[in-house]
Amino acid sequence: MRYDSITDAIGNTPLVRIDPAVHGLTHIDLYAKLEMLNPFGSVKDRPAWNMARPHLAAAAERGETVVELSSGNTAKALALLAGMHGLKFKSVTNRMRIPEIKELLLLLGAEIEELPGQSECLDPTDTDDPLTRFHQALAEPGGAYLHTDQYFNPRNTEAHATGTGPEIIKDLEGRAPDWFIACVGTAGSSTGVARVLREHDPDVRVLGLVAHKSDFIPGIRTIDEVHQVGLFDPATYDTIESVTADEAIDGMMTLIRRCGLLSGPTGGAAFQGAIRHLRTVDEELTERQTAVFIVCDRAESYLGYVRQRRPELLGRPPRKNSAATLTEAEVRDEAKVIDIDAARRWIDADPAPLVIDLRGPHAYAALHIDGSVNIADELFDELLRGGLPFSRRRPVLLACPVGEKSARYAALLTRMGHPDVRSLSGGIVAWRDAGAPLVRD
Ligand SMILES: Cc1ncc(COP(=O)(O)O)c(C=O)c1O
Repeated sequence: MRYDSITDAIGNTPLVRIDPAVHGLTHIDLYAKLEMLNPFGSVKDRPAWNMARPHLAAAAERGETVVELSSGNTAKALALLAGMHGLKFKSVTNRMRIPEIKELLLLLGAEIEELPGQSECLDPTDTDDPLTRFHQALAEPGGAYLHTDQYFNPRNTEAHATGTGPEIIKDLEGRAPDWFIACVGTAGSSTGVARVLREHDPDVRVLGLVAHKSDFIPGIRTIDEVHQVGLFDPATYDTIESVTADEAIDGMMTLIRRCGLLSGPTGGAAFQGAIRHLRTVDEELTERQTAVFIVCDRAESYLGYVRQRRPELLGRPPRKNSAATLTEAEVRDEAKVIDIDAARRWIDADPAPLVIDLRGPHAYAALHIDGSVNIADELFDELLRGGLPFSRRRPVLLACPVGEKSARYAALLTRMGHPDVRSLSGGIVAWRDAGAPLVRD
């Protein structure tokens, strides 16, 4: 294999059969599309190249900077592409949550701008959100940026409709699989692949996977966040299901330890979500069927993510006091929740609760409840491992973007013996929508 440019090595990734002894399905052949073997390391190499390619020469002439709202794989691919073409790259995001990727981006020469975001993800309908304002400013003519615009750019979807999808059909000897399973971030890969598979065979069923509401799986969105993405169309999916971070790590470990596939968490989420769903239909099948899922990227960047959630996998003692291990039912039964009006009265009462805002520092700096303290959820998680970090005598009000993470921590703190901790129902978004006061630093 000889290439003139590394970009010629993008695409044509292997489709690898998963051993039935591993997945346990009797009537379904399950295949992994190894997008992690793209040269820059992920499924995003294809759209990054497809979106940037037509504009790179003109951008180089004008001395523009490539810019994208990405804190992960798209940023990585664009940083490398920009460097190859003598351009600068800037990654704009409201929270860099994976330190290894942040460091890698810096190593690749990227400039990183972390903006405050109120809801901690881009909401194009929210004109107050700094990230949204930045996104709108980029769309204005005459800027110094080449903005690839992955959440809205049809060339994101097209990269998969012309590459990933047709490759799957070719490798299955001209047939579309019966099932296609993909995690949803910008929705580019699932939408593009689903479109060509259905053009080939309208009966293909598409399973979209999102992160469980109160969980974080780097690279994909929760069901609430996914509706804010311009490329997302619910009609693409026959079913959308959520996967927990724990399931994603379980899936990733199976792919790594049993299949020799060095997958990251979203590949694990796709595998685990696929077998969970396919098991429900497997028994009823009378003919053999085929299913394909995407392995988006590799494991190495997520060691800190795994260490935080499953330290025993890295030879450390298992986690005590973990919010992640509480089930939905436990959170519902054990978390005390308080509505906005009652919370406002409580804050003015004596003794007033300690108000802890679990959002990232930028979102907190943009707007927060007066007198609240900011401990971002990852840090709060660390703190709780050592036991209760504050007195049992002081009541505590927890706030997060929409009231889900805070409910989880309220349940955990109650379990840890705190007598009066409550979660702000609907979070800072509901507080703002109710017209309750917020202050800015
Ligand atoms: C690790 C990872 N997995 C999955 C996805 C989802 O892909 P898409 O944006 O095509 O929906 C992304 C997107 O950034 C990602 O970085």
